[in-house]
Amino acid sequence: MRVTTAEIKQGDCLKVLQDFADNTFDLIITSPPYADRRKHTYGGVPPEKYVEWFLPRSEQFLRVLKPTGTFVLNIKEKVENGERHTFVIELILSLRRQGWLWTEEFIWHKKNCYPGKWPNRFRDSWERCLQFNKTRKFKMNQGAVMVPMGDWAKTRLKALGKNDVVRFDSQVGSGFGKNIANWKGRDLAYPTNVLHLATECGNKSHSAAFPPALPEWFIKLFTDEGDSVLDPFVGSGTTCAVAARLRRQSVGIELHRQYVELAQQDLKSADWQLLEKGKRYEIRKR
Ligand SMILES: C[S@@+](CC[C@H](N)C(=O)[O-])C[C@H]1O[C@@H](n2cnc3c(N)ncnc32)[C@H](O)[C@@H]1O
Repeated sequence: MRVTTAEIKQGDCLKVLQDFADNTFDLIITSPPYADRRKHTYGGVPPEKYVEWFLPRSEQFLRVLKPTGTFVLNIKEKVENGERHTFVIELILSLRRQGWLWTEEFIWHKKNCYPGKWPNRFRDSWERCLQFNKTRKFKMNQGAVMVPMGDWAKTRLKALGKNDVVRFDSQVGSGFGKNIANWKGRDLAYPTNVLHLATECGNKSHSAAFPPALPEWFIKLFTDEGDSVLDPFVGSGTTCAVAARLRRQSVGIELHRQYVELAQQDLKSADWQLLEKGKRYEIRKR
């Protein structure tokens, strides 16, 4: 059986990716540094410079992603001078001009968001997970992320109307079609594009770590076992640890030494037999 590998590389992903061949990865999933004026531990790209900073890097992502692959970008604009900044919207438009298809937008609802009071808005409890593709024929394992049908089915499926027993296509032309009767007697349904996940960075020495369930969901949805996953801003290495657990090959790139060490530590402490081969970790289940 093929050995699962995880590799954490130090450097700017713009440079590091130049060593990778075209069409290498099945999934790129990442949370880049925030657009922020403060030069704190990581990031510090001001919002008005963000698109200009991001595009040379996304050009590399486009090159190294397979035609059947997917790029998931976790990002959220901040409030500045009482307004939402528009850099994410500008970034989406620029990525489309660069050749990406903006296929979907998932919402990560942060279930455990702390309460607060602001004079002119409510607490922010969601982030965007933007899905981009190179082609319309990308790999998608919808069956891998099915969810329990839920209580709605008991009442809704009891009394079916005439539009419920035939495929009823969306009247707004979205391509979405439903046949409610098909779901009778089933235990599992397809999920929505809203992910309800708690943030979990309290136990990590990185303030912006993914909850492992976030990369896990997208890795299951967009890759098969043995496929290759890239996180070009890997931080504490969550994506690679999850990918290894799911037996996907992975590469993580991180600018700062301290986070590279944290990511490597995370891989070492996982419940895996880890064979250190140079800078690469080969992982076999215990
Ligand atoms: C939001 S954090 C990612 C956190 C990650 N998802 C995790 O689970 O820990 C972004 C990371 O990108 C790193 N970074 C910033 N600029 C970078 C660059 N040009 N190339 C690679 N990594 C970079 C930062 O040091 C930071 O750790």
